[in-house]
Amino acid sequence: MVNLPEESLIVIKNLCKSFDDDADILNGISINIKKGDLVSIIGPSGCGKSTLLRCLNCLELIDSGYLRVGNVELRRDRPDKRPDDVMLDAAHKIRGEVGMVFQGYNNLFPHKTVLQNVMLAPVVVKKMNAEEARETAMKQLKKVGLAEYSNKYPSTLSGGESQRAAIARALAMNPKVMLYDEPTSALDPVLVGEVLQVMKDLDSEGMTQIIVTHEMQFARDASDYIVFLDKGEIVECDDGDALFANPRSPRTREFLRHFTGMAVAC
Ligand SMILES: Nc1ncnc2c1ncn2[C@@H]1O[C@H](COP(=O)(O)OP(=O)(O)OP(=O)(O)O)[C@@H](O)[C@H]1O
Ligand SMILES: [Mg+2]
Repeated sequence: MVNLPEESLIVIKNLCKSFDDDADILNGISINIKKGDLVSIIGPSGCGKSTLLRCLNCLELIDSGYLRVGNVELRRDRPDKRPDDVMLDAAHKIRGEVGMVFQGYNNLFPHKTVLQNVMLAPVVVKKMNAEEARETAMKQLKKVGLAEYSNKYPSTLSGGESQRAAIARALAMNPKVMLYDEPTSALDPVLVGEVLQVMKDLDSEGMTQIIVTHEMQFARDASDYIVFLDKGEIVECDDGDALFANPRSPRTREFLRHFTGMAVAC
């Protein structure tokens, strides 16, 4: 446990991750994220964006490096050494500090109502009593504009509504940071805006958020800064206007040119 300044809510140092002894998927990632930041991660397919989020959430244990979320630290020096109890305990604690919304809109249990979905983890994991969990869940559903949908089943929701319910469900655990892995990629264009708006609202409330996205306009407009990841490395990290208007690295320029078809300054 550490007592570091509140502004660096998340610290990642020299994080490395590979699978099955293959080449490094993440190769020495270092970044500090302040409380309240909205950070977009962009990069080509297969560059390690989802893996980075999964390491941050400790769904994957890092091979080596340092990770701090809030005041929970996880350090690993040797990938060949089995993770010890201290490390596993830290991973468990970090998971409890992080909310995650995945790609697609099948994040919800189909046999439970929206309200039951949002109440579930606080009751089961946090042992919250049902009344308090219901109150918390309704508060979060209201926040994402779904108070009226509490008794509906997931199959009756639109993709955008489902993703907003998934956000409410993650928020109900009172996370320190929200991670989103392409939360709008499976949505009709008309529904994308409502999900992005929820993230903007959460940003104005001071929530710390990290979003893997292909919504370049959103990344540019809403992010405090954008991280461009390529081949497991952070190539460039800058605020949206600077990154789009004047990318420093030829790799960033190439990606933006190909991906967005946008005119990128050379
Ligand atoms: N559990 C796993 N086992 C083995 N290889 C994996 C595993 N998860 C990811 N990989 C590999 O790691 C690399 C990075 O994958 P990742 O899903 O992080 O990429 P991404 O940047 O999120 O791509 P996309 O934009 O297509 O979602 C890929 O080559 C992928 O095949
Ligand atoms: Mg991915």
